[in-house]
Parts: sequence; structure tokens; C-alpha cells
Amino acid sequence: MSDTKSTPAPDSAPASQRPAEVSRRDFLSEVTMGALGVAGLGAAALTYQYFSPNVLFEPPMTFRAGNPDLYPENSVTFLQDQLVYIVRTAAGFYAVSAVCTHLGCITQWKPEADMIACPCHGSKFQPDGKVIAGPAPRPLPHYSINLAADGELLVNKLEIIKPDQVLNV
Ligand code: FES
Repeated sequence: MSDTKSTPAPDSAPASQRPAEVSRRDFLSEVTMGALGVAGLGAAALTYQYFSPNVLFEPPMTFRAGNPDLYPENSVTFLQDQLVYIVRTAAGFYAVSAVCTHLGCITQWKPEADMIACPCHGSKFQPDGKVIAGPAPRPLPHYSINLAADGELLVNKLEIIKPDQVLNV
């Protein structure tokens, strides 16, 4: 006895059971909508980037350098965030820029040699900023340094002062 059951050909299935066919028009319409969506997202991203402020955030030009007791006498302390040396001598405090006056590299305090040195082209400075060896054309500038009402050191990088002005605490 043979098996009389057989699977129907796909075309012979009722229309309700057949997978929905996508017409060429529907397919092209969906591809077009997808492309427009991607283009719209790209345009929105570019618009957002265009209107967002192009700002470089830098540390404030006036800053607190803490209590004077933080700095021992005859010390040079590099404040990396501010690129400033706080120098304390027997005479008092001064704040010296750590930016080389040659081409703007960041200098380094060398306690073993008692000097500030620039790693870029070899300029050397005394702790008070005077040039020992070039090519730096000028000494490191001194910034205004004062005591705030609460007794902390207050440095103003917008105000360059004479190197002989020392804050005596
Ligand atoms: S940038 Fe300092 S020596 Fe050139």
C-alpha cells in the first residue's frame, strides 16, 4: 500500500497561508525611506556639532594656592594644573610661570641642580626665573601673589609683576 499523502506545492497553498510578497514598489520605497533616515541622522549630527560652542576650557587665571604653611622655606613647588611654580625663600613668596619664554614648552624644576630647565631646547633658569642659559630670550614672568581674606595664597596670572616684588608672610 502506498502513502497517498503528499505535500502541496507552494503555489497551491491558500493565499492566507502564503508569505506576503513584497512588491518592487514597496521594496524601493523602504530602501528610500531608510536612506533618507540615515541622511537625516547625519544632518542632525552635523547641525548639533555646528551649533555646539567650540570652547577650549582652561583653568581660571586666578587661583588659590593653599595655605602658606604648605610651602617650606627655600622650596620650589610646581603646580601642574596651573603651570606655575610657587617659590618660597627667606624673603617671602613669589609665583613664577612654568612656561618657557622661548617657544612655550613646560619647564621642569631640577632640585639637584637648583634650577628650572626646559626640556625642549635646553634653556635654564634660576628659581626666580632669571635666564641662566638660552635660547630663552626673557626670564620667566612673575605673577601677582597675595593673601586672601582667609589666609590662603592667591595667585593672579593676569597680572605680571616685577621680579623683586615678594609676598612677605
Ligand atoms: S621652548 Fe624652552 S628652550 Fe625652547
